[in-house]
Amino acid sequence: MKSIVASDLYKTYDNGSVKALNGLNLDVEEGTVLGVLGPNGAGKTTTVRVLATLLSPDSGSATVAGIDVIKNPQAVRKIIGLSGQYAAVDETLTGMDNLVMFGRLYHLNAKAAKARAVELLEQFSLTKSATRPIRTYSGGMRRRLDLAASLIVKPKVLFLDEPTTGLDPRGRQEMWGVISELVKAGVTLLLTTQYLDEADQLADEIAVIDHGKVIARGTSDQLKRQVGGERLEIVVDAAHINQVAQVVKQVSGVNPNIDQAIRSISAPVTTGSKALIEAAKLLDDAQIHPLDIGLKRPSLDDVFLALTGHVAEEKSDDATENSEIARKDGKRNRRGRGDRK
Ligand SMILES: Nc1ncnc2c1ncn2[C@@H]1O[C@H](COP(=O)(O)OP(=O)(O)O)[C@@H](O)[C@H]1O
Ligand SMILES: [Mg+2]
Repeated sequence: MKSIVASDLYKTYDNGSVKALNGLNLDVEEGTVLGVLGPNGAGKTTTVRVLATLLSPDSGSATVAGIDVIKNPQAVRKIIGLSGQYAAVDETLTGMDNLVMFGRLYHLNAKAAKARAVELLEQFSLTKSATRPIRTYSGGMRRRLDLAASLIVKPKVLFLDEPTTGLDPRGRQEMWGVISELVKAGVTLLLTTQYLDEADQLADEIAVIDHGKVIARGTSDQLKRQVGGERLEIVVDAAHINQVAQVVKQVSGVNPNIDQAIRSISAPVTTGSKALIEAAKLLDDAQIHPLDIGLKRPSLDDVFLALTGHVAEEKSDDATENSEIARKDGKRNRRGRGDRK
């Protein structure tokens, strides 16, 4: 069963000059995680706000757990949780008081609100900081509290809008941990992110969005396959480029791509490690010693670049705390990520 369905959503701002959603379609199977991956300005937050009933689309329709978000927003609100980049928590209150307050807003009685707060603080490793005001919390602790607040009533469907943007590497790892736990417990999750590694790590399926619509959809592996399978890549000294190009052509059966600047010769191959061994043997026979030889699988970066013509994070201009660190971390993770999945 589909837990979330969005059909042909359009939304413009500023009298139509900004097309935030431009025919957006997506759906999420119950109990799964959809990662909505896109750069800044792609339409992620607008999508989440429409699905969470905070914003009406200009046209199109959407349902959450089978309930129409436009016709029946009240009923939708009862079964969803929403955690965003811009936390609704009160800075001056303690973590405990914030959660109790949210519980009361959701019509829990005082005792039930307190019990749920205690439970959530424990679940999100905030018990020790429960009596401190939020303003003393780190970025990661705030995000966890914000997430806890969205879980007061155990939602069937959870929306997380860029849950780790602006967090430092450790905060991000911790957040991934708690999100994974939630997913194990069976919640349906729509998560937006501009981080490829985050989508790779947390999502069952990924919808890549750009300029207000979904431009590709699939598992991380499917998306990678879409831009091509494995490539044989050999790096040599300048003197041997032509000879190596011949070898790569012989092994792959196609004219290789030659990048003179980094002296890299590559071509798609279908036989995996067999192609690698064959190439290594031919090079050895010719007494050519490559600087590097290997099979390269496309990364989600390659996917994004192939689909959109730009890298996912280049437009990022968030002024959130530690965003510089987070971005650097994102890049580092992405580089080391090639063989994870
Ligand atoms: N309230 C608003 N008024 C005008 N333009 C907006 C508003 N909210 C978003 N936009 C614009 O709509 C587009 C999509 O924004 P958004 O959904 O926030 O993207 P994302 O969350 O992927 O960064 C962007 O061009 C953004 O500048
Ligand atoms: Mg956003």
